[in-house]
Amino acid sequence: MPQIPSLNITDSFQCHFLLFEDLHLLWEKADARVGGKAVLVVDGNVLALHSERIGKAFPADSVNLFELPPGEGSKTTAMWNRILDFAFSSPLKRNTPLIAIGGGVTGDLAGFAAASLMRGLPLYHVPTTLLAMVDSAIGGKTGVNHAFGKNTIGAFYHPRAVLFDTDFLATLPHREWLCGLSEVLKYGYIAEPDLLVEGAALASPKGRTSDRLRSVIERSVRIKSGIVAADAREAGRRAWLNFGHTFGHALETLDNYSNINHGEAVYAGMIAALFISRHMGHDVSDKPLLELKTHYNLDISPYTSSVDELVTLMTHDKKNRDKDIRLVLVSKQGKPMLASVGDQSLLRDAWNYAFDVLS
Ligand SMILES: NC(=O)c1ccc[n+]([C@@H]2O[C@H](COP(=O)([O-])OP(=O)(O)OC[C@H]3O[C@@H](n4cnc5c(N)ncnc54)[C@H](O)[C@@H]3O)[C@@H](O)[C@H]2O)c1
Ligand SMILES: [Zn+2]
Repeated sequence: MPQIPSLNITDSFQCHFLLFEDLHLLWEKADARVGGKAVLVVDGNVLALHSERIGKAFPADSVNLFELPPGEGSKTTAMWNRILDFAFSSPLKRNTPLIAIGGGVTGDLAGFAAASLMRGLPLYHVPTTLLAMVDSAIGGKTGVNHAFGKNTIGAFYHPRAVLFDTDFLATLPHREWLCGLSEVLKYGYIAEPDLLVEGAALASPKGRTSDRLRSVIERSVRIKSGIVAADAREAGRRAWLNFGHTFGHALETLDNYSNINHGEAVYAGMIAALFISRHMGHDVSDKPLLELKTHYNLDISPYTSSVDELVTLMTHDKKNRDKDIRLVLVSKQGKPMLASVGDQSLLRDAWNYAFDVLS
C-alpha cells in the first residue's frame, strides 16, 4: 500500500497519515510520557464496542478518558466546556496530547477543544466511521454547532497525525457506511471517476473486502489532502469538496437534522447538481448514483412539496457571496467546476428531478 505524503501545514508543522496501522502505534507517536497523561476523548458507542482494543493500546495509568455521549447533539459549546474542565482536572502541559477516537462529531469537538486548550495541544485523530476516515479527519476543520447554524463556531486546527485503523469499521451500522460512501462518490465525480465503481461496491457488506476498503480510503485521503494542501483556507479549490453539499445542506436544514443524515442529503444533492450540470450542456450521468437507490432507501416524501423552501434555504447558504448561488458542478466525471446560478426556477427543476428519480 503506497503511503500518502504528509500534509505540510506550515514549514515546521506537518500532519502525518498513519495508514492502516493498529491503534497502539499512536501511543508511540503521541509520546505522552513527555506531556503527562494524554487526554483521550472517545465516542461512547465506540468505547462500548471496542473497549478492549482501546484499553490495550493506551496504558490505563497514562491516559484520562472522557467518554463522549454519541450523536450530533454533543457538538455544543456546553460539551466543549466539559472537555476543557475534564482536561484541566489533571495537570495539563502545553505538550499533553489530546487523542480523539470516534466519528466526525468526536473529531470536530475534540479538535476544537485541542485548539483552545493552552492555545493548542498536540492533536491526534483516530477516525472510526467511514465518513471520518475519508473526510472529516482530514483538513483541520474543527468546531461545534450553535443555534445560529451548524459548525458556526470553530477553528482551523490540524492534527499531528491521523491514524487509520480499519478494524473499527467492523461494527459500523449500515446507514453510517452509506453516509461515508456519499463522500467517496463525491470524490469520484470531482477527482477520480473509478471511485464511483469502487465506492459503490462498499454499499453492500460483501463488497467490503479489506483490499477494496483500504484502496478507497487511501485514495480518498490522498484526494482530500491534496485539495486541502493546495487551498488550506477554502479560497478556491477546496470549494470543490462542496459538490452536492449546497443542495444537501438545504435538505438537512429543512429536515431539522432529524430523519435524513448528512450523507443521504448529499446523495440527493449530487443528483440535483448533476441535473444542473447537464442543463448547462455537460454530458455527465447520474446513473452511478441512481444504481445505489435501494441501498440508500431514502424516504423523501415529506419534502417533495417543499421545493420553494429548499431554494430559499440555498440562497441563505453561508458560502454564497451574493444573491446568485455558487454551485459546484461537473463538466464530466472527475472534472469539477464552479458556477453562479441566479435562475431559481432551474434550482426548483433540479430538486423536482431529484425527488422524482428518488421516489
Ligand atoms: N471537519 C470536517 O471537515 C467535517 C467534514 C464532514 C463532516 N464533519 C462533521 O462530522 C460529523 C458527522 O460525522 P460522522 O458521520 O462520523 O458521525 P458521528 O461521529 O456522529 O458517528 C456516527 C454514529 O456512528 C457511531 N460510531 C462511530 N464509530 C463507530 C464504529 N466504529 N462502530 C459503530 N458505531 C460507530 C457513533 O457513535 C454515531 O452514533 C458532523 O458533525 C459533520 O458536521 C466534519
Ligand atoms: Zn459532507
